[in-house]
Amino acid sequence: MKLASLILGAFALFLCFGQSMAMADPNGDPAAVKQDAKTGLWYDKAGNPTFKVEKDGTVDWYTSVGYLQYGANCLVCHGPDALGSSYAPNLTDSLTSLNYAEVYGIIVGGKRDVNASQDLVMPAWGDNKNVMCHINAIYVYLRARSDGAVGRGRPSKVAPKPAGYDEQENKCFGD
Ligand code: HEC
Repeated sequence: MKLASLILGAFALFLCFGQSMAMADPNGDPAAVKQDAKTGLWYDKAGNPTFKVEKDGTVDWYTSVGYLQYGANCLVCHGPDALGSSYAPNLTDSLTSLNYAEVYGIIVGGKRDVNASQDLVMPAWGDNKNVMCHINAIYVYLRARSDGAVGRGRPSKVAPKPAGYDEQENKCFGD
């Protein structure tokens, strides 16, 4: 009897958690509803960049670019799979409270938290083209990680590169 109610209690807790996690995206519903015809980037219904993961696990092009660019520019501090390190926060947690505009602003301008016991510095990337030309890709990768749509490691199945992808990337790099 006692054991049964314990199990029931644990299950109820699990349900609550599952629900609060599903609602934890501060941009609202992450479902991809519109793809930009030029760039191939997906948007949610509120107009924020988002990921698109098919039932068989295939991720959209930007999510896979974001994985690689995160690895090249952010992993050294924020750890593999965005799970944090002793120095920098777990971004899968951070993105449950920071929306697209806030994340974008922090990446461009940096962030600093100084007090008696620590001096944490998030560099500003506004002048770094490798980051700025991939900022939406990095964002959708982090959003997918935070929403639990993409697991740890490199996405194994990736949708084809959108036709307009190279053109907008080259334009950004100024080639
Ligand atoms: C040199 C180490 C370092 C690198 C590289 C770095 N960050 Fe950070 N980042 C930090 C630190 C430290 C903080 C916490 C700053 C604070 O608390 O004020 C932070 C904070 C953040 C935050 C805010 C998190 C929060 O909960 O407030 C975001 C978003 C973020 N970083 C994204 C990125 C992205 C994306 C990249 C790669 C383009 C990146 N960071 C690269 C060190 C780094």
